[in-house]
Amino acid sequence: MKYLLVAAARPNFMKVAPILEAFRARGQEDVLLVHTGQHYDRRMSDEFFRDLRIPEPDINLGVGSGSHARQTARVMVEFEDVCLAHRPDWVIVVGDVNSTLACALTARKLGIPVAHVEAGLRSRDMSMPEEINRLCTDAIADLLFTTDRISNENLRREGVPESRIRFVGNTMIDTLTRHIDRARQLPLPEGLEAGRYAVLTLHRPGNVDRQDVLDGILASVRGVADRIPVVFPVHPRTAQRVNGNAEHPNLRLTEPMSYLPFLGLVARSRMVLTDSGGIQEETTVLGVPCITMRPNTERPITCEIGTNVLVGNDPGRIREAAARVLHAEPPAPCRPEMWDGHAAERIVHTLLHENPVSC
Ligand code: UD1
Repeated sequence: MKYLLVAAARPNFMKVAPILEAFRARGQEDVLLVHTGQHYDRRMSDEFFRDLRIPEPDINLGVGSGSHARQTARVMVEFEDVCLAHRPDWVIVVGDVNSTLACALTARKLGIPVAHVEAGLRSRDMSMPEEINRLCTDAIADLLFTTDRISNENLRREGVPESRIRFVGNTMIDTLTRHIDRARQLPLPEGLEAGRYAVLTLHRPGNVDRQDVLDGILASVRGVADRIPVVFPVHPRTAQRVNGNAEHPNLRLTEPMSYLPFLGLVARSRMVLTDSGGIQEETTVLGVPCITMRPNTERPITCEIGTNVLVGNDPGRIREAAARVLHAEPPAPCRPEMWDGHAAERIVHTLLHENPVSC
């Protein structure tokens, strides 16, 4: 059997790393890693490969940035040639970025079975490009690997038969589990003390593409920085609109950070303010309070049993949530069911031994 495993953007790299490792551990060498090149900066891509010890991609499509249509279309055109040249038995896609959908669609139309890792997450917010990517990918993928029971239920409600759903756990948490000890040993940036700083990340189009919305969020963050130092690794999308609005002696802007330093930073922080998806999951497992600056989440389990609260992008609510965290005892770490570090092994076992049939 031959597998093509697709990675595209920053949040994908920690999801493919343990899958690749699990394939290799079972002696399955016929796995080609395809990097679509959606993220291409050293700090958004190469450094993750180094930190996570992922081998060089076998194939790089080099698609780069562009509008949604252009980026998605370019991936499809390039990936079609790869599929035709290599004739894989399965294409494996992860997450919800444009490349996830582009590769799933390309493979499906060539009659190649598709497995989607992290299927069934739903924010029910169609203004998020990722929600469109999730819905469309799950509609056409043959095998849907889920991270939690809520996702199973979402898929069932959409009419997906049980035979296509496999509840396996969370590959992002596999990677966290492997690397957390190393990450915690890295020195913190100069002047920061464990438990006495906050971390900020922002990149959602809904928060950073409109200057007034971003200005409001950063005004509330400056309020947080009056009380505790805030470290802010700035995503390239966000960098275009960060100016005087992020000036505060206690607000420290940095370049995007690679996996290990960022994980070490988050793990020892007092709280995280974010609009990311994956960070809501990582903070749940680390027992770090997470204030999510979005009106909804596709990962509700992190609010139900984890450390996550949703506050939208209203500056008053962000400040209040941060104040509450500073007055409360730190929460306990929590591992949702099957977030045990072995999700990738279950995925690979299913693909190699259960002989799943395409739908
Ligand atoms: C993409 C994903 C999002 C994911 C995020 C993580 C989609 C629809 N969005 O959003 O789900 O959470 O990645 O970062 O797929 N840029 C660089 N260097 C890079 C990559 C991007 O400078 O290596 C800049 C470009 O100016 C680009 C902008 O960042 O236009 C946005 O990049 P893009 O890949 O379009 O989407 P993200 O906002 O990163």
